[in-house]
Amino acid sequence: MRKNGMPITMLTAYDFPTGRACEIHDIDITLVGDSLAQVCLGYDSTTRLTLDEMIHHCRAVSRGSKSPFLVADMPFGSYYAGTDDTVRNAVRMVREGGIEGVKIEGGQEWLETVRKLTSIGIPVMAHVGLTPQRHTSLSGYRVQGKTAPAALEILQNALALQKAGAFSIVLEAIPRLLGMYITQQLDIPTIGIGAGAQTDGQVLVWDDVMSTWNGHKAKFVRQFGDVKGEVESGLREFTTAIRERSFPAELESYGMPEEEWTNFLA
Ligand code: KIV
Ligand code: NA
Repeated sequence: MRKNGMPITMLTAYDFPTGRACEIHDIDITLVGDSLAQVCLGYDSTTRLTLDEMIHHCRAVSRGSKSPFLVADMPFGSYYAGTDDTVRNAVRMVREGGIEGVKIEGGQEWLETVRKLTSIGIPVMAHVGLTPQRHTSLSGYRVQGKTAPAALEILQNALALQKAGAFSIVLEAIPRLLGMYITQQLDIPTIGIGAGAQTDGQVLVWDDVMSTWNGHKAKFVRQFGDVKGEVESGLREFTTAIRERSFPAELESYGMPEEEWTNFLA
């Protein structure tokens, strides 16, 4: 798709119905993002998500998804304790979770990991720029690479990750010129989120796209659907109808032969 100049669409999914929706509605890459920590599980950070929780959700998504390429985030901590441990965890995600590739956040520190996973047949998507698993050491969720040295570091990380075998890379919250430049310098597809319009593809979080997330709305988010509005009106009408006793109607309930009823009363 990159070679043909076709923009790549990527969206997160966290369960069977969202996985089905990505497949039916023609998403190219479905990502079981560790954003599931916040948007589905109510944690305050992706660092709270366990590998078992991630696998549980991967299983649900993969049951509903066959055609989009299915990638999942390796949770915080699940790729930090050496290559053997990382391989074991990634294999669990593929075998038990049913996903096809893994995504890991960071740069030069993961080159050996990327080489290893790639060499054993687990495709790795890299993720540079804003890396939410490090929100504490980054002093929050902020745009990265706004100074020349910081921009150079991100570019060098991206090049090194490509060389190590990453099949694609997410560029999160970096200046659009840097997003464009890195995309030009790399041969693998770049997927942007807050990286401008010149990356090979774009990714967003399901709940941001559908307006079901109540928390902070990042500058790069565009709300394409209004599921929150639909939920509000659906629930308002549901509770009103019950309280007015207009639900259920006769057609929404079961009848009984009159004779049987008479016998019953007798
Ligand atoms: O966890 C996530 O949802 C992500 C994407 C937004 C890139 O990592
Ligand atoms: Na993520």
